[in-house]
Amino acid sequence: MTQIQDIRAREILDNRLEPTLRVTVETAAGCATADVPAGRSRGEHEAVEVRDRDDRYSGLGVRRAVATVEEQIAPQLRGRSVFEQRLLDELLVEMDGTETKSTLGGNTITGVSLACLKAGATAASQPLYRYIGGATTSTLPIPFFDMIEGGELSGSALPFQEHQVVPIGAESVSEAVRLAAEVYYELGDLVAAEYGEASLNVGDEGGYNPIGLTDPRDAFDLELRAIEQLGYQNAFALAADVAASQFYDPDTDRYAMMGTTMTRDDLLEFYEDLVDSYPIISLEDPLHENDFEGFAELTDRLDTQIIGDDLFVTNPDRIHNGIARGAGNALLLKVNQIGTVTEACDAAQLAARNGYSIQVSERSGQTADTWLADLAVGLDAGQIKTGVTRSERTEQYNRLFEIEANLGQAGTYGAGSSKNQPFGSAGETL
Ligand code: PGA
Ligand code: ZN
Repeated sequence: MTQIQDIRAREILDNRLEPTLRVTVETAAGCATADVPAGRSRGEHEAVEVRDRDDRYSGLGVRRAVATVEEQIAPQLRGRSVFEQRLLDELLVEMDGTETKSTLGGNTITGVSLACLKAGATAASQPLYRYIGGATTSTLPIPFFDMIEGGELSGSALPFQEHQVVPIGAESVSEAVRLAAEVYYELGDLVAAEYGEASLNVGDEGGYNPIGLTDPRDAFDLELRAIEQLGYQNAFALAADVAASQFYDPDTDRYAMMGTTMTRDDLLEFYEDLVDSYPIISLEDPLHENDFEGFAELTDRLDTQIIGDDLFVTNPDRIHNGIARGAGNALLLKVNQIGTVTEACDAAQLAARNGYSIQVSERSGQTADTWLADLAVGLDAGQIKTGVTRSERTEQYNRLFEIEANLGQAGTYGAGSSKNQPFGSAGETL
């Protein structure tokens, strides 16, 4: 029942109308399909995507990856059990033979690895989250909602990529999503009234793009006002994905922000003031992707969660380096940054064992496939980020509702078994 009979792939489209890969793994128990996400604000140390670089889709086609799956990978994996995830993933890594997964492609490997995982859940007749997490799986993650977008993912002039609201005081994930939705509606009214209707156009992750806004503090003010107008200040905290590499210039070693340039020290001071003035509990990629030292200093200076995304790229070696230097205290986990499910799980385990919290994350390019929600629950991460509106985002929330219903009384909202997050458990208010 568990033997791989066939692996097929297809070129499909993501939310940006860009091609990506859908991989199907067939066993006697049935077919399982997984879609591959794609980043835009990518870390330079991520696994390499293989794209066709020809005339179709401006070179973004993935027909070569489709052929790689069907002609190179499928013959090697046929006959093996989908229950041997680690072995299958090791085979993929071995076949590829590069640090950056550039032979087969990080996207190709991610598709096959995830489709095998889903086929394993099908063969085990278990929901995906339970197949990943086992019998005691019970934690529904705190969602981080990217309500106002900047950086590479939007047309706004804000330097920070994501200005998030975080319902840490909600009682359950369904309440968390409802409260956040109401904040989103309220915020929409404020944004439209003050920055014009065009500011309601959304970015890649479904957050607003207030036109003319250049200071992250103005974005946080808007979010706080929306929260306060609803009387929800006890339920919410704020957070940001700065994605600082996007406005860092390695030649001058300066950050270009709000019409000026800043040194690392200037930026560290800016964060200290920010955290003093706003209920900010988490900062992702506050410094550029190779500044382990700066991350360590900030982690030392602030009492907030400091997440490494482009810094760690879900890569156990880079996480190891971060742990040794005290850089950050949280891992952003994106499967396609590293390639296989096994490596991503190893990254999560390494982080958790060393007191780092884990936030399972979407990419700005996604499809309606909901493995992400299951992964967040299965890994007991306690945190998920998956944007805010647009179907490829809301489908993740809809899946969390299903999992919540499925878990019933056994489900808990928040911290995760590792309980590493520095801002305390869900249920505590600020
Ligand atoms: P990406 O952006 O998916 O485009 O990399 C999301 C993030 O930086 O977290
Ligand atoms: Zn990021």
